[in-house]
Amino acid sequence: MSDSSRDTAEGAGWGAAERGAYERLMPTEVQKISWLDPRMLWAARNGVLASWFGDPTGRTRSRWVAQRAAAGAPADKVIRRDDPDRFSFMVIGDTGEGDAPQYSVVPGFLRVGQDTRFTVLASDVIYPVGSADDYDTKFFRPYQDYRAPIYAIPGNHDWYEDLGGFMRVFCDDAPPLAPEPAPRPLTRAWLRSLLWHRARRHDGQRLDEVRKLRSAPAQRAVQPGPYWAIDAGPVRIIGIDTGLLGTLDAEQGAWLREVSQGPRPKILVTGSPLYVDGEHHPCPIDGGGTVDDLVRDPAHHYVAAIGGDIHNYQRYPVDVDGRTIQYVVSGGGGAFMHATHTIPRVDIAGVTEDTFRCYPLRGDSLAFYSRLYGRRLRLRRFFTLTDAEAAAVVGERLHIRPGRTPGPEARITRRTRLVAGLLGTGSRPDKAKRFRLPVRKIYTQLFSPSSATYSPPFFKCFLRLDVTPESVTLRCHAATGNLAQELDPPVEDEVTIALA
Ligand SMILES: [Fe+2]
Repeated sequence: MSDSSRDTAEGAGWGAAERGAYERLMPTEVQKISWLDPRMLWAARNGVLASWFGDPTGRTRSRWVAQRAAAGAPADKVIRRDDPDRFSFMVIGDTGEGDAPQYSVVPGFLRVGQDTRFTVLASDVIYPVGSADDYDTKFFRPYQDYRAPIYAIPGNHDWYEDLGGFMRVFCDDAPPLAPEPAPRPLTRAWLRSLLWHRARRHDGQRLDEVRKLRSAPAQRAVQPGPYWAIDAGPVRIIGIDTGLLGTLDAEQGAWLREVSQGPRPKILVTGSPLYVDGEHHPCPIDGGGTVDDLVRDPAHHYVAAIGGDIHNYQRYPVDVDGRTIQYVVSGGGGAFMHATHTIPRVDIAGVTEDTFRCYPLRGDSLAFYSRLYGRRLRLRRFFTLTDAEAAAVVGERLHIRPGRTPGPEARITRRTRLVAGLLGTGSRPDKAKRFRLPVRKIYTQLFSPSSATYSPPFFKCFLRLDVTPESVTLRCHAATGNLAQELDPPVEDEVTIALA
């Protein structure tokens, strides 16, 4: 097995390494997503409108679900597969940017996923707004050689055009929803509908052509709707749709309560992780209760909850009344990397630095961002930290042991401390007023991923889960963009969950 980022700097993808073969898979012309482009920001405005004028997602989702029911989708939304007692599946999150980081994951994903029965794509299938036109280069093309079904849950980006593209691709070519009667003038809903972004008139004209790339019988997957459950071997996998704002409508909440019943071990997949960046986000359900209430209920037998949305890997083994539930973030499947060095020293729900895991390691995350800002601000000599310098200064600021043993002694200097501070290492939310450069979500708004970031290491990842009647083994594999990790994707984290 090849070195991981926990073993060596080369395992993390640093140093002069041979580039992977992923570029051969890419289309000749790649349209880069620039979040600085005002047109892009304007197209992605529906999330803001939903928070200002009320969120219409629940109602739209309910109409999609009714349409699917009328077309004969099962009422319980359970996909009943014929997987054996022992089988494997893949989970990959936040894939759809269609550029080098997304494609750099593909060769390793295909290799590790060779003998798996299916894949679950966890949120944000298509950036920036989920258009049907974008499925060509951001879904069908990259995964054309994966010879098994892919089921998906939508993320907020898939909702920016009311989920039309997603429903066509994953739900048996679902036709567009009939237009709704116009809201009463001068109401909040009326204002919202005036400003609402909708799909282009001829969006998806080429979809029938491009979906042939994944049309083999072995690749066929039909979902009952945007949320679903899969009964596979001894486990039930439940995918929920948290829409534009990371919440659940009452109808979906009632369904989730229903499919969570019974002794079968369960794995939740969601677009909004329940534990992330050292915080607990239980995910409210309209009308009362939270998703995490249902996950923690001992009668429901959840063993893991995996969320996308944040583009890295994190794992929190939380003790819930004597059982351990693995709360995982796995959104590092393609889109630009979210920092891990801004995660404060972990101490939540009994999870500490001893049991918490993340990828990239915080030092590598800081080194990655220091290079990025050095390039963007043309201050390379000031900003750029080596991976050893970054690991040392992260260790000092967060009082944590470095994720890998540093090589040659790295000195901590005033400069490395200053850069670490500017890039947000160890800043807690309560101290957020202290000046720092944007490195997490806001990064997408202020700094477009430029061509300079389109070279390895990318710090991408995906999961493979091996299921038996007795246990589920979850492994996080890395993709760096370098050939060595492409040929043998290193294991960055591994945990075996007993199924009682
Ligand atoms: Fe995302």
